[in-house]
Amino acid sequence: MLLLALESSCDETAAAVVKDGRQIRSNLIASQVELHAVYGGVVPELASRRHLEVINPLVEEALSKASVNKAELEGIVVTRGPGLVGALLVGVSFAKAFAYALGIPLIGVHHIEGHILAIQLEQQVDFPFLAAAVSGGHTHLYRVEGIGRYRLLGRTVDDAAGEAFDKVAKMLGLGYPGGPIIDKLAATHDDGGIVFPRPLLKKNTLDFSFSGVKTAVLNYLHRLENPPGEELIGRIACAFQTAVVDVLTQKILRAAEAENLERIVVAGGVACNSGLRQHLSRLTEGSERTVYFPSPVLCADNAAMLAVAGDYYLSRGASSGFDLNAVSSWPLEQVVWG
Ligand code: KG4
Ligand code: ZN
Repeated sequence: MLLLALESSCDETAAAVVKDGRQIRSNLIASQVELHAVYGGVVPELASRRHLEVINPLVEEALSKASVNKAELEGIVVTRGPGLVGALLVGVSFAKAFAYALGIPLIGVHHIEGHILAIQLEQQVDFPFLAAAVSGGHTHLYRVEGIGRYRLLGRTVDDAAGEAFDKVAKMLGLGYPGGPIIDKLAATHDDGGIVFPRPLLKKNTLDFSFSGVKTAVLNYLHRLENPPGEELIGRIACAFQTAVVDVLTQKILRAAEAENLERIVVAGGVACNSGLRQHLSRLTEGSERTVYFPSPVLCADNAAMLAVAGDYYLSRGASSGFDLNAVSSWPLEQVVWG
């Protein structure tokens, strides 16, 4: 099927044209980072307004880049949730109107389902596999039996990993979003002997906790007599990233072992992190396990990732009605299409 995919769950408006849930014809992302950077985080009302402004021209551009005519589209897939409800509503309403006008089916899919399946746009990863969804809102481990068949193995009990990156960057005065900035600093500094805690690592659980690491950074900063200079900020960033990467890699490997899964897919914005990519790849090298990271553009929020599940469901006759509504919270295990 030739699908138009739309994503607007947070601060990126994205539109893509994808054939058969595998071939990306176009994949455009209009980032709002600059709009929110001055506030140090996403302002929901501003996000919705910006989505409204850009969605129409972005869709036109995605169609034109793909050399596809509206009339050739066979379906529309849109993020239904989870995310900021006002932001999601822009994509959902647009998708409904478009589908109605063109007389084609529509399907609302789960944002994290999109992230987990994004890798299939680049290479085939056979089921079952372990999926680690690490983003600004999620740090969840799933056993994935197939599209629509997800079993939760562990999750963060407080902050998501990306959220911790963003909050620590803010404490260090580094700007928003913090993940890429900390990643860069960590690559060019050592930790200078600073060690932050690894919460829940020793416990027999696949759950995560990142708020303690964040508080440890805050306490470290409070104990300093003078504001930290550039060198010390780099070291703190490195020590923080090392702690988060250590926890993520160890729990991911533990989950793969417990579930006897050979394939591991890491997805979501934090999967862009170079420390995480290197560490996990190194630890699995030469072992029976293979780790898969999508290209950075498919790790971060994008619309093409939604087309994998969208194509699968639509081509099996499932679709959403015009009463489709956006949902801010929606556990992935409750996805029922499969
Ligand atoms: O998946 P995503 O684009 O949006 C959500 O669904 O949340 O993830 C965004 C998160 C942000 O918290 C951002 O700081 C983080 O991913 N992130 C990173 C990196 N690039 C983005 N975190 C660590 N290292 C990176 N290189
Ligand atoms: Zn995301």
